[in-house]
Amino acid sequence: MRERQIPWWERGVIYQIYPRSFQDSNDDGIGDLAGIEARLDYVAALGVDAIWLSPIYPSPMADFGYDVADYCDIDPIFGDLEAFDRLIAAVHARGLKLLLDFVPNHTSDRHPWFIESRSSRDNPKRDWYIWRDPAPGGGVPNNWISDFGGSSWEWDEATGQYYLHAFLKEQPDLNWRNPEVRAAMSDVLHFWLGRGVDGFRIDVLWHIVKHQAFPDNPLNPDWTPDVTERDRLLQHFSTDQPEAHEISAEMRALAEDYGERLLVGEIFLPAERHARWYGTPERPQVHLPFNFHLIESPWDAAHLRAVIEDYEASLPGFGWPNWVIGSHDAPRIAARIGEAQARVAAMLLLTLRGTPTLYEGDELGIGHVTIPPERMRDPQHFRQPSLNIGRDRSRTPMPWDASPHAGFSTCEPWLPLNDDWPTRNVAAQERDPGSMLNFYRHLLALRRAHPALSVGSFTMEKAEGDVLSYVRQHEGERLRVLLNLGPEPVQPLTRQAESVRDVLASTLQARPYDGTLLPDEGLILSLAPEA
Ligand code: NOJ
Repeated sequence: MRERQIPWWERGVIYQIYPRSFQDSNDDGIGDLAGIEARLDYVAALGVDAIWLSPIYPSPMADFGYDVADYCDIDPIFGDLEAFDRLIAAVHARGLKLLLDFVPNHTSDRHPWFIESRSSRDNPKRDWYIWRDPAPGGGVPNNWISDFGGSSWEWDEATGQYYLHAFLKEQPDLNWRNPEVRAAMSDVLHFWLGRGVDGFRIDVLWHIVKHQAFPDNPLNPDWTPDVTERDRLLQHFSTDQPEAHEISAEMRALAEDYGERLLVGEIFLPAERHARWYGTPERPQVHLPFNFHLIESPWDAAHLRAVIEDYEASLPGFGWPNWVIGSHDAPRIAARIGEAQARVAAMLLLTLRGTPTLYEGDELGIGHVTIPPERMRDPQHFRQPSLNIGRDRSRTPMPWDASPHAGFSTCEPWLPLNDDWPTRNVAAQERDPGSMLNFYRHLLALRRAHPALSVGSFTMEKAEGDVLSYVRQHEGERLRVLLNLGPEPVQPLTRQAESVRDVLASTLQARPYDGTLLPDEGLILSLAPEA
């Protein structure tokens, strides 16, 4: 039997760039494609394999690009198609891959398709979106709540119907039951694949089809008013419909025609429903249903162990895992668990079995950021200000050096920098051998040098207090990862006798292993082969 060829993403690491906040090249305080191109050597030197760019398409920016007004062009804020072609050539010249963000669930309300659709009830594009009459007694057609709070339905006075929007009212949902919509969106995928992109991260993939009868969603018995209004309901009928899986399989088939292209689907669901997005070997869906379980889990050994084991157990035999600890939507990992544990988190992320995705700035350990109220921009914050769920804190510009505006721009950036940017920046961390940046680089280099860490088998040790302990093994090489999630020194009980050859990495100062883990210490140990 021929051995299966391992695709690049199974060994690889993805790095998410939020284009508005990476590097400004034209003095407007907003990052752009030429800026990203100018910083590619940094990305390559980090040791990652692929870049995922959050949306760069023409957009009114109601949701900072996740409201697309033209799927086949570049917003002038970011550049133009020529700048894109230069960027992709420069990415490929460094042996890196480029993934774009594909936003299929909704367009901008300024997309020409929606402008036509709302122009009259008999417009040929009316059915490209989801229009409904008021409920029999008047009012919204059902109880669905937008992910940003408030009803999912917006009244359109001119044509006397409501349209559906799972997010902002400026982001009307497309009707994926309409074959013309599917064909138009396939054209979009062809457009970018033909231009050489290596795949897509697919925005809110589990949302794209709704139950045909639009029943009310059930109430969530566990909801409390201190969490987002979205969670008042269980999204039984508005998300994760069987037909969406079929569409996901069609996207996969289309991508396969271009060779080794990667589809990462954004999917927020419990493990067993999450795993269905891999499809079957005969009818595969996305390669990597994005796995947010580390972001959602309380940060202690017991919860993390359960999350990792449940996730591993839920995977179909052919399904390749993936992990993420930060994004433009989630609070910064260092803000959530502190800098010492953020190092432990980095070691966890880069030693678990599965493709890791890093989020720009986490490699510098950016933590709490103060955004004065007058500089807040995120629509999610403005929809529910009392909840303190604004995402601006995770979207602040990259601090490159200690020069004015941190080398990000020549003028005041669109969002403030991290408070400690004069010392927490790329240049300063490059000079400091003990910095978070150099720690990340070391972990990434280890992952490349030791296939056990990427494609090796994974065995979790049984429960042991604050310690997570697992072995990665590949072709005779055995590596043990020990992570102390707690504030006390511990002596891991298991495998005391196993012989440690070398300490490959530590979240603290390098030192020989003496059987003890210090508080917040994580170690990668190289073990002698089993007798
Ligand atoms: C998920 C994206 O990551 C988020 O930033 C956006 O607001 C929603 N999808 C809507 O597109």
